[in-house]
Amino acid sequence: MDIKDVLEFTDYLFFSQTGKHIDSLQESILKGTLDGQKYSEIAEAEHCTEGHVRNVASELWQNISSALGEEVNKYNFRRTLQKPNFSITSSSFTKEFINVSNINFCYSNIQQLEIMNNRLAPSPPETSQTQNQSTIINLIEAPELTTFYDRTSELTTLKQWILEDHTRLITIYGLSGIGKSALTVKLIEEINSEFDYIIWKSFNNIPTLSTLQTELKDFFSQSQQTLLSTVIDYFRNSRCLVILDDLQDILKSGELAGQYLPGYEDYSKFFKQITTSPHQSCLILLSWTKPIEIANLETENSSAQTLNLKGLGEEATEILREKGLIDQENWLELITIYQGHPRWLKIIASTIIELFNGSVSLFLAEQNDIYLGDLEPGLESHLDRLSKLEKQVIYWLATQAQPVNISQKPANLVLSKPEFMQAIQSLIRRNLIEKVEGGGRSLFLLNPVFKAYIQFHTTDQLYSI
Ligand SMILES: Nc1ncnc2c1ncn2[C@@H]1O[C@H](COP(=O)(O)OP(=O)(O)OP(=O)(O)O)[C@@H](O)[C@H]1O
Ligand SMILES: [Mg+2]
Repeated sequence: MDIKDVLEFTDYLFFSQTGKHIDSLQESILKGTLDGQKYSEIAEAEHCTEGHVRNVASELWQNISSALGEEVNKYNFRRTLQKPNFSITSSSFTKEFINVSNINFCYSNIQQLEIMNNRLAPSPPETSQTQNQSTIINLIEAPELTTFYDRTSELTTLKQWILEDHTRLITIYGLSGIGKSALTVKLIEEINSEFDYIIWKSFNNIPTLSTLQTELKDFFSQSQQTLLSTVIDYFRNSRCLVILDDLQDILKSGELAGQYLPGYEDYSKFFKQITTSPHQSCLILLSWTKPIEIANLETENSSAQTLNLKGLGEEATEILREKGLIDQENWLELITIYQGHPRWLKIIASTIIELFNGSVSLFLAEQNDIYLGDLEPGLESHLDRLSKLEKQVIYWLATQAQPVNISQKPANLVLSKPEFMQAIQSLIRRNLIEKVEGGGRSLFLLNPVFKAYIQFHTTDQLYSI
């Protein structure tokens, strides 16, 4: 989207609240925010202090929030403009009204309305197909991105796959709360201008394939003269980006990782077709688990790629800073224990605030084992999905002090060698165990947080052999 349009629109909102137009510093804050600049960088460019920029920005966001009737800040400004609740309620060629969160604003140019309605990014490349088109975006089912740190290398990889390699199917898998959705929302912010249509669908209400396909076709048929018969036709005809979130919701519990629920097996064929048929679109799957056929597809076909998302590195310190923790010298230790996992760190930070007034060193001094507290429900939801075989193996792994190798199946486990190997492979696909190298062999290590949970609950029947 043209920055001029954003500035005019924001100026209108600001004026409606204050009777004043935005000044040059406020303009720089808006531009800097859209460019992903920090307040300190804006301050440097504007030759003033960071504190001054923060104060001016705070007043700006407050007025924009009041005008829109919803909270707007540095982190969600871009997304707020993307929301599909900008709709035309009345029009004439010279005077247009748009409804933003039920407030009517007057606009003088229909072009601006289209931009406000759907687009954030610069104009798409000048090809005959894309000229004069806007990206139609539906992120109603996406989570809101508040703060976001780092993930530079993951974003680079994803952009390379999508924009350079034209990968058709991308699976991002990792533990719950590791940041799959946040990363993907951020990715959309950065590449939305490359697509004609972007839609985010969640599997929370477990749609059958035919329901999903109907919804996608309805979405893609907007602003198209001719209705096409299949999703793949739209994928060929336009550049569509589809995100299917929480794929694990249509996978079976109590079985080895990655098998579809009864009635949902046809998704497997759909994903295969997306990978193997020629088109100009991309489907991104977000999941706790890597589905079996996706693992096969990526080995056979370069049009399928998988990103196994792990924790944040040192940048997770920003999460602790944002939470207001103290004893910065101990933050890295805390991050290492909780594996840079953003949701775990947020939860533990809240505990540290509540019980230790924010002191990380006091919290760490109290710990002999890894403290789990409010992490437990999240860990349970992963373990509840395991098959009997996997439960046997993970319970045994929790008793091992060192990483184990694949030939180490213990005699007391009532399962065959192939079953043992299958269970290990399945636990890897769920990110519950990790492969590490040692003495020229692959060794397998149970995630220490899950290990702590299982050790703590050793008396539970659930995990008994
Ligand atoms: N890079 C990041 N910087 C700051 N916060 C982050 C980052 N990644 C994730 N978070 C925060 O961590 C929490 C979990 O992230 P998110 O919802 O994206 O995880 P997820 O992998 O999609 O989890 P689930 O599988 O349960 O949907 C959210 O509060 C999110 O804002
Ligand atoms: Mg998610």
